[in-house]
Formats: sequence, structure tokens, C-alpha cells
Amino acid sequence: MIQISLRPITEQNRDECISLKPRQDQMGFVASNLDSLEKAVEEPSTGAFGIYNEDTMVGFTLFDVTPYEDDDCFWIVRFMIDEHHQGRGLGKAALGQIITTMSHIEGCSKIRTSHVPDNQVVNKLYKSCGFQETGDLVDGEIVLDLVIEGTA
Ligand SMILES: CC(C)(COP(=O)(O)OP(=O)(O)OC[C@H]1O[C@@H](n2cnc3c(N)ncnc32)[C@H](O)[C@@H]1OP(=O)(O)O)[C@@H](O)C(=O)NCCC(=O)NCCS
Repeated sequence: MIQISLRPITEQNRDECISLKPRQDQMGFVASNLDSLEKAVEEPSTGAFGIYNEDTMVGFTLFDVTPYEDDDCFWIVRFMIDEHHQGRGLGKAALGQIITTMSHIEGCSKIRTSHVPDNQVVNKLYKSCGFQETGDLVDGEIVLDLVIEGTA
């Protein structure tokens, strides 16, 4: 059974978070979790969360909990499932939980994300959850938006 929750990264679970990695062939799709936690400190709009299935941390996400100052959107900045836990539906369930959590943040009317063009698995996954390509590229990455219903 899949039971996803998002729990803040703290001193207690930071090392476990850093130990999670995608598959070797996916390394170019996402920064290391150590790098992401450092980025989280530099980007005050973001919050860092472990993705848990029941009580096991299976992945990591970094997303805006206040609007990103450059475009007023709420970005999913990082999203990954550890290589040992992929292919079991956890990524899809986690993305659903991320969207639900973000859509409850006051003022969040649009969720934005981006991915490198080669990452077709995540492109399909985002679209299956309602994201649409904007047609823009940011730093060479494909940008997708999800408008939160009832807020636009
Ligand atoms: C993208 C990612 C989060 C998906 O996690 P996951 O737990 O494997 O995803 P799921 O098991 O829920 O599968 C989601 C969908 O992707 C498909 N999928 C997963 N792995 C796949 C693969 N290697 N090849 C083809 N399809 C794949 C599944 O079939 C499923 O599609 P469906 O809903 O049509 O059946 C994971 O592959 C990952 O962490 N990748 C590396 C980091 C990354 O790319 N992050 C995104 C950066 S923007």
C-alpha cells in the first residue's frame, strides 16, 4: 500500500536525505540532494521535504512555500525518488501529494516546474497530473505550468 507524506528536512533526517540518489543514468536530470539542501538555504521562498512512504524516506522535494520573486509562481524546484524505490507508483503518488500541499498554500494559483529535454519520463508524469508545457525554455529546460482550479 502507498501512503505518502511530506516531512520537513531537519537535522534529524538530513543525512538520510543526502544518502538518497536517482539511478546512475538519471544523474543529469536532477542535482544531488546535498546540492539541493544548500540551494534551499540560498532560496528563502523554498521548503525542503522528505517524501515518505509510511515511515520510510523514499525521495526528496524542494518547492516554493512563498512565491518565487522573479515570476510570482510557486516552483517545484527539485523532485526525486531514490533508485531503490522507483517504478512502484511512488513518484506519481508523491507528485499528487506535492500538488495538494502546494494548492493549499495561500496565494498559490500556479505551480511551475521545469526539466531537461531528455527527461521524457517526468514530462509524461507531470502532464498526467495536469501540467501543460508553456512553450518557454529556462536555462535550456522545458517549462510546465499547472493552474490551480478555482484561483485563476
Ligand atoms: C521521475 C521519477 C520521480 C518518477 O518516480 P517513480 O517512482 O519511478 O514513478 P512512478 O513509479 O510513480 O511512475 C510514474 C510514471 O512514469 C513511468 N515510468 C517510471 N519509470 C519509467 C521508466 N524508467 N521508463 C518509462 N516509464 C517510466 C511509469 O510507468 C508511470 O507511468 P504511468 O502512470 O503511465 O504508469 C523518478 O524516475 C526520478 O526520481 N527520476 C530522477 C530524478 C528526476 O528526473 N526528477 C525530475 C527532475 S525535474
